[in-house]
Amino acid sequence: MAKRGPVRIGIAGLGRLGKRHATNLAYRVPGAVLAAACSPVDEELDWARETLAEPRLYSDYEAMLADRELDAVWLVTPSSLHADQIVAALRAGKHVFCEKPLSLDVAECERVLAVAREYPHLEATIGFMRRFDPSYRDAYEKAAAGAIGRPFMVRSQTTDQNDPEGFFVRFAPTSGGIFLDCTVHDIDVARWFFGGARATRAFATGTIALHEGLRACGDVDNGVGVVEFEGGRLAVFYASRTMAHGNDTQSEVIGTSGALEIGHDPRKNRVQIYEAGGVRSESTPTFFDRFEDAFLHEANAFVQAVAARLAGGASAAAAGATLADALEATRIGNALRQACASG
Ligand code: NAI
Repeated sequence: MAKRGPVRIGIAGLGRLGKRHATNLAYRVPGAVLAAACSPVDEELDWARETLAEPRLYSDYEAMLADRELDAVWLVTPSSLHADQIVAALRAGKHVFCEKPLSLDVAECERVLAVAREYPHLEATIGFMRRFDPSYRDAYEKAAAGAIGRPFMVRSQTTDQNDPEGFFVRFAPTSGGIFLDCTVHDIDVARWFFGGARATRAFATGTIALHEGLRACGDVDNGVGVVEFEGGRLAVFYASRTMAHGNDTQSEVIGTSGALEIGHDPRKNRVQIYEAGGVRSESTPTFFDRFEDAFLHEANAFVQAVAARLAGGASAAAAGATLADALEATRIGNALRQACASG
């Protein structure tokens, strides 16, 4: 039955990124009501109680899914939980937004796609937010309009500022490694610009420049990958956890009659500092500072798509990466991880 009114969302996961998504959904997305929040951690529920406008709080995900008022769930939980939690949400009749990656395991991705096919009326989107970054989207639209001829080469990097505390060394064992955690975004960018072309071969290598603690779980802090796609298309990826200056995410798309660069100057804002040593600008410190707008646009698009479905229409807005896109990103990320490990 058609339903008008706001889309009522329950968020699961209130960690580093979940708090940001929760604040966006509660205060910055027209047409959304953040009606519930779920975390197994008491301090995170305290944060929700103090910060969010209208949250019903749950320490158990299944209990939140039983909340009949919720139209959708928003998952910002550890990557190893995504597949089971998406399946449970669909079975409970909820639309789902889930952070990347869909799963670290290709068979698990396939299982989620099979379940989603049983619920074609439910929206299921994976959070590859670069598709909503204004600069990436502008470049995509230019390429789609033929501005650079046929795009055949993508060079793309995700590089984080070095964290001397090594937060990610503790996070690494459940993250899937640098290719599935970081490069997965660049993989999605390449596939997006290549019109969803299928990857055929992957090469990769990596090194530990600073964080020896990664060796125990077989990860690296700097990785390089090359992926061949159907139709003679190529992608070159670089991921790093050890940049001195900040988060430096950038991509280049090269076509037969031109090229587009996206984000090549990682400056934080438009301020230039003139001093005895020269002229400089500060850099974006974290991925969130770089992609704050993209996270917001992503939330708006999902909410509009769900609102259209609730009102009885088809999915109206471009709601981002599909489960099938996310499966391919995991397949390619896994291939890079294997290539790096096996040489
Ligand atoms: P985090 O470890 O800071 O947060 C995870 C949260 O999940 C915590 O609040 C924890 O209490 C909660 N949680 C654990 N088990 C739960 C359960 N059974 N039910 C409900 N909540 C549960 O991790 P972080 O950095 O916030 O990452 C979360 C997800 O977001 C990961 O999948 C990660 O890959 C993704 N991510 C995406 C980024 C992007 O660029 N799009 C950037 C950073 C993270």
